[in-house]
Amino acid sequence: MRFTVAIDGPAAAGKGTIGRAVADRFGFAHLDTGLLYRAVGARLLRGERAIDAARGLTPDDLANPDALRIPDVAQAASKVAVIPEVREALLEFQRAFAHRIGGAVLDGRDIGTVICPRAEVKLFVTASPEVRAQRRMEEMAAKGIDIAYDDVLADVRARDARDTERAAAPMVAAEDAVTLDTSDLSIAAAIAAAVDLVAARRET
Ligand code: CDP
Repeated sequence: MRFTVAIDGPAAAGKGTIGRAVADRFGFAHLDTGLLYRAVGARLLRGERAIDAARGLTPDDLANPDALRIPDVAQAASKVAVIPEVREALLEFQRAFAHRIGGAVLDGRDIGTVICPRAEVKLFVTASPEVRAQRRMEEMAAKGIDIAYDDVLADVRARDARDTERAAAPMVAAEDAVTLDTSDLSIAAAIAAAVDLVAARRET
C-alpha cells in the first residue's frame, strides 16, 4: 500500500512532532526533509560548494541529526535551499521515500506542492512567529543550548522570509492542504487533529 502524508509549514510550527506521531500511529516511515537541507548547509559551512554538497550527500551526513539542529546550520540550510540545483539534487530521494510501500510521512516546505502533489493527505502546520520562537528556545534550552528569545525570533523571521520569497519551490500551503494553526493548541490536540484527518482519508 502506498499512502503519503505531506506536512509543510514554517520553522518550529510542530511539523516534526506531528509527523513522527502520525507515522508511529499508522506504522508509516517518517522523513524530516529539513535534515537534508541542513546537511547540505553544514557542508557549506565546512567550505564545500552547495551544489556539490547536495549531489554528494550520503547517509553519513545525516548520522548525527542533533549536530544539524543548531541555529547556524538552520540559517545555512535556508540559504542553500534557494538554489534550484540543490533542490533538484534532493528531489528523487524524497519522491522515492514518499512512494515506498507501507506509507510515508514527509515534513518540509514543499512536500504538498512539489515533492508529492498527489499526496493522500496534505497538512500545512503553522503558528505565530512569537509562539514558534518560544518553542524553539525551549527546545534548545532542553539540549543545554541557551539562546536569547530575540535572537531565536530573528532567526525564525529571517528563515520565514527567505523560504516564502524564494523563486524555487517557495513555502506555500497547497491549494488542497488543510491548515492547522497550532498557536493555541496543545501537542496532544494538534496530533489528534492530524491523526483524525489521516484516519478519515484512509477510510475513503
Ligand atoms: O526544523 P525547522 O522547521 O526549523 O527547519 P527544517 O525543517 O529543518 O528546515 C531547515 C531549512 O531547510 C528551512 O528553513 C528551509 O529553508 C529548508 N527546507 C526546504 O527548503 N524545503 C524542505 N522541504 C525542508 C527544508
